[in-house]
Amino acid sequence: MEQLNDTTPQTNPPAPVGDVVRDQLADLAKRGIRVRTEADVQRDQERELQRRRGLAVRALEQQLGPRYGRSCAGLEQYEIYHEAQAEVVARLRYILEHELAGMARDGQSMIFSGTVGTGKDHLLAASLYAACERGYSCDWTDGLTFYAKFRDGIKRGDLEQDLLKAYLKPDIFAISDPVPPAGQVSDYGLQMLKRAVDERYRFRKPTWLTLNAKDPEEAAGALTSVVFDRLADGAETFACFWPSYREVARKRAKERREQGFKDASKGGPAQAGEAPARRAQR
Ligand SMILES: Nc1ncnc2c1ncn2[C@@H]1O[C@H](COP(=O)(O)OP(=O)(O)O)[C@@H](O)[C@H]1O
Ligand SMILES: [Mg+2]
Repeated sequence: MEQLNDTTPQTNPPAPVGDVVRDQLADLAKRGIRVRTEADVQRDQERELQRRRGLAVRALEQQLGPRYGRSCAGLEQYEIYHEAQAEVVARLRYILEHELAGMARDGQSMIFSGTVGTGKDHLLAASLYAACERGYSCDWTDGLTFYAKFRDGIKRGDLEQDLLKAYLKPDIFAISDPVPPAGQVSDYGLQMLKRAVDERYRFRKPTWLTLNAKDPEEAAGALTSVVFDRLADGAETFACFWPSYREVARKRAKERREQGFKDASKGGPAQAGEAPARRAQR
């Protein structure tokens, strides 16, 4: 008869879990079945993250257009030809590498002000790509498009609040030249810009912008206007007052032409890759 109070174990002690799993994995491997490990899951998640960031960068590129594409508007492509640029680029590079997280958390803005053609939008685009590649959602527009979208939206009967929502969503919202020459923007447009900027400020979300100004005084004037005084509060400002890139490029092209002319009058134009000694023999 079965002894109900017999407490002696009827089976061997259980095998350690690790051994069981190893055996099962070995068995599955023999049958050609591959099991996804924790490392596989992590690698796939990392790939998915990279894929999404790649798509976000491409979407940003589409907004910015080919002139400010990823491969031409990076900090690496930004040429330094004036000492003030070196300082601005060094500071910006430091921010993008070390201070982006803090800026995004505290809603600290960045303002690039300066004369036309100094590369403010190039630097803004480079900053947006850097932020986008680190996983921040970024959105860009230029001032005139911002105003036009409101005009068109209101004509269609859209609600202001709905139109504004799009500008409040991204972690970083960038706007180029929100202060167009006087008379180009209606009071209503400016009021909408003020609302977008103020709401972002309230939610501690950074707004980055470029401002064209002929000198630092004019830039300061634009910043203390009703729209920007809050945004400028605690913002990182970059004063870009140096000769325009186009001017420098034109000067270089002229110098090259003159040099070519001198060469031609000496011994005919150099052919690509031709050594000077060879040309002298001709
Ligand atoms: N220092 C620079 N190095 C290389 N390209 C530059 C530089 N500054 C400006 N550019 C180029 O010149 C063009 C005009 O610059 P942009 O950023 O639009 O100037 P801004 O916004 O100050 O008017 C862009 O194609 C930009 O990439
Ligand atoms: Mg510009």
